[in-house]
Amino acid sequence: MFSFAPPTPESAPIWFVAADGWEAVKASIGVPAVAFAERCGFKPKPGRLQLVPGEGGALAGVLFGVDAPDAPGRDPFAPGKLATSLPEGVYHVANPPADVGLAALGFLLALYRYDRFKAEPTQKPRLVAPAGVDADRIERIAAAVAFGRDLVNAPANVLGPDALEHAAVKLAGHFDAAVRMVRGEELLGANFPLIHAVGRAAAESPRIVDFVWGRDDAPKVTLIGKGVTFDSGGLDIKPASGMELMKKDMGGAATALTLARLVMETGLDVRLRVITPIVENAISGPAMRPGDVIVSRKGLTVEIGNTDAEGRLILADALALADEDAPELLIDFATLTGAARVALGPDLPPFYTDDDALAAAIAEHAVRARDPLWRMPLWRAYGAMIDGTVSDVSNSGTGAGMAGSITAALFLKRFVEKAKSWVHFDVYAWNPKARAHGPAGGEIQAARALFDLLTERYPKR
Ligand code: BES
Ligand code: ZN
Ligand code: ZN
Repeated sequence: MFSFAPPTPESAPIWFVAADGWEAVKASIGVPAVAFAERCGFKPKPGRLQLVPGEGGALAGVLFGVDAPDAPGRDPFAPGKLATSLPEGVYHVANPPADVGLAALGFLLALYRYDRFKAEPTQKPRLVAPAGVDADRIERIAAAVAFGRDLVNAPANVLGPDALEHAAVKLAGHFDAAVRMVRGEELLGANFPLIHAVGRAAAESPRIVDFVWGRDDAPKVTLIGKGVTFDSGGLDIKPASGMELMKKDMGGAATALTLARLVMETGLDVRLRVITPIVENAISGPAMRPGDVIVSRKGLTVEIGNTDAEGRLILADALALADEDAPELLIDFATLTGAARVALGPDLPPFYTDDDALAAAIAEHAVRARDPLWRMPLWRAYGAMIDGTVSDVSNSGTGAGMAGSITAALFLKRFVEKAKSWVHFDVYAWNPKARAHGPAGGEIQAARALFDLLTERYPKR
């Protein structure tokens, strides 16, 4: 499905045409094709698509306008548009555009649709892998991103805690990872009081899924993802507008699982651990209340300033667990704050770390993979905003919403001590609008950049 087509003599050529490349393409497609394209008003402008007829009603090829390689703001995924506009059939690249690997990835990513509940899945064109790209790697990335997008797009009645647990366990099983699960009341005995407190009001029990993969003495890399299958806000209930998209509040878990799938499929040389705290933030008699104080796994006492700041609560217990075996690299992903969107918008997730070298490497891979990420500061002085009134720390604090993404990150930091490096991603996990490389809806952010970084650091042995 998210794979390239096998080469075939029947495939139709796609010519990528930048303004200054039109004359060269003209020379290779022949006089009648040029005459037809110009008759149709084709201009070599970015995004312009022109089918060129062959003999007997056949398709001789396709012209697709692209930016010059050095154009500012050029979108290397722009050829993804072909996946949604070409007629069904097989195509090949006649003249590779700049960043042909990203162009091919853009095409595969753009094939994605959440069509599980649609009567008729749409017919799609297929592309032969262009020469010189790492076709296997591109296919693996496209399939993993589709897996993650499916999790985010699944409505909360379809993907509640049971189903999200099932997805994580199935992934772990596929790669023979060792899985541990703790559910419901057992969370108290196993010392996950915050996960229990957030999830205990829901019909499906709160839980934690923890799996380990890879050789024991490889470097320890641990991923954590916020798995809130629906965030009503709890007793501090969200308004309708704020609740509308909250099926995606497990986007962090989807991101962690997507990255884990890539790491395991590729066989990177790490001892990978993936921890997914899973809850629904619901309302019923046992719901946690504003003002409640809970002793966390780590022993820090946490005051519930706002029941809608539930993500940092479940992450706190998960981070404390992860920190106990002092991983070399601890990464968490979470749709944690509205404030991150206010600061940077939907397409540029902030990340937080005290490790400057790691931050530089992440920023560099984000640019190279075209998976945008932006470092924000763990501004220590703002720590005072989350002091508890009767406890060690509050989950909302006194900042009146100021620096909300930073204070959330500072809250998480309180639960990490032994990990050599820790980085937190406040992702949105959603495309408000369709883009060249994917439809509106669930999106996986940061996983591609991190996969590149991990591949470079821990190559397959
Ligand atoms: N899941 C939300 C954050 C969110 C909202 C992410 C919208 C993406 C889009 C989170 O649990 C939340 O509600 N956070 C509150 C925290 C506040 C109560 C301290 C927020 O950001 O408003
Ligand atoms: Zn919330
Ligand atoms: Zn939430």
